Amino acid sequence: MQIRFADSRPTGEYALVLPVAGKDRTNLGSLGAAQQVVGAALDRQRFEGDASAVSEQFVDDNGSVRRLLVIGVGVQNGDQAAEKLGGNAVAKLLTSGEKRAVIDLSGLNYDADKAARVAFAAALRAWRHDRYRTKLKDNQKPSLEEVIIIGGGSDAEQRYTSRWAPVAEGVSLTRELVAEPANIIYPESFVERVRASLEGTGVEIEVLDRAQMEKLGMGALLGVAQGSTREGRLLILRWNGGGQGEPTAFVGKGVTFDTGGISIKPAAGMEAMKWDMGGAGAVAGALKAIAGRKAKANVIGICGLVENMPGGNAQRPGDVVTSMSGQTVEVINTDAEGRLVLADAITYVQRNYKPKTIIDLATLTGAIVITLGHEWAGLFSNDEGLTSELQKAGEESGDKLWRMPMGEPFDRLIDSPIADMKNVGPREGGSITAAQFIQRFVENGVRWAHIDMAGTAWSDKAGSTYDKGATGYGVRLLDRYVEDVLEA
Ligand code: BES
Ligand code: MN
Ligand code: ZN
Repeated sequence: MQIRFADSRPTGEYALVLPVAGKDRTNLGSLGAAQQVVGAALDRQRFEGDASAVSEQFVDDNGSVRRLLVIGVGVQNGDQAAEKLGGNAVAKLLTSGEKRAVIDLSGLNYDADKAARVAFAAALRAWRHDRYRTKLKDNQKPSLEEVIIIGGGSDAEQRYTSRWAPVAEGVSLTRELVAEPANIIYPESFVERVRASLEGTGVEIEVLDRAQMEKLGMGALLGVAQGSTREGRLLILRWNGGGQGEPTAFVGKGVTFDTGGISIKPAAGMEAMKWDMGGAGAVAGALKAIAGRKAKANVIGICGLVENMPGGNAQRPGDVVTSMSGQTVEVINTDAEGRLVLADAITYVQRNYKPKTIIDLATLTGAIVITLGHEWAGLFSNDEGLTSELQKAGEESGDKLWRMPMGEPFDRLIDSPIADMKNVGPREGGSITAAQFIQRFVENGVRWAHIDMAGTAWSDKAGSTYDKGATGYGVRLLDRYVEDVLEA
């Protein structure tokens, strides 16, 4: 689907989208003779112009029938309302049979950025993964080929192309990685998919294979990987966009499938564990986004990629592994594998790049889903400043974060009688002890945040900027963090 900006409505066939701010219907003036009937229909439908309210009608346009969507943006009409407008318009029209849509923002006083956000949300909502659906009927396939945005002034298109289109591309990469099944995306193919997608962006890529990780002593990550015939990989992405000083590091959990290993998961719902690489997917997508818009920042993205399988060579409960940091871990439960992967990935980035700030993202615990549900991801951090920076980026981007507590009483719960620590605590506070485990690998003086996104990487129902399935959570958050904090 193409997005275009124009000064006035085109000729020919299209569906018209008219936004309305609350009860103020002056924007319907452009409908001419149809205005009265449309207004009366809106009254009958109890349409009050709230953000997300949508009324679909057909009007007589000089003797031909035109589909009209009146979409509310509410009286506050902020950035999020602008996104809901673009997203909801596409949601309604994508498979409607309409080929073109015109979203006419004139009368809304949108500046270039807000108009670009309408376009951005339209692009995000149009993303689908139909690769394996060979028998879709014609009327189930997307029909919408073009969205034309009117309004926002002459800078709107430039603003979209330079600021938001690259983020839409980053989110799309993440969603693709997350949506693909685990027979298609495994550590090696994850690397190749990302490599192809980042070609020409200026992101430098380095990959460590099993032998290289063995030499570095990454026993925690390799212990997880050893049960699978698919070898693990460490993917290192570097974006040097300028500015001085050490880079900021984004580290993602990339478990391309999590069976639980010998501590095997129940069969029901296990297919969801193809998206246990959502953190690594977000890191790759974020690097694509910030490189695409040439962000003036230095960022390292690390993806710890493994498949967690049972098998003759799989690690056993009770095994003790030595991590790259030198610390030893008693693996009580092979299903608490994400923290083992992150431990070595975090040590690697600290040893090689000396970042002052590390943000890790992981679909780490079922417990965070119980705690926070699907709207907020859990935020754990050792630094107040980083916490508020991330929470602000979360509010602004829509990838929301809720801070969780940490502390010594939780840390004690993962002491082990045989090794430096064990990889699980008691059931209670399971997300917190997981965070405490990761923190044991963070060196003194490093600002660190851990984002447990197990509840937000995937959605069983559509939202205004995503269809059901992979959400792309994390890309917009990191992109916004880079803009607000690193480029400031
Ligand atoms: N990948 C899972 C966490 C998960 C659960 C993500 C549900 C998305 C949805 C993780 O590796 C895991 O298995 N965690 C265990 C930890 C437990 C063994 C301490 C869990 O949450 O049950
Ligand atoms: Mn697991
Ligand atoms: Zn997992």
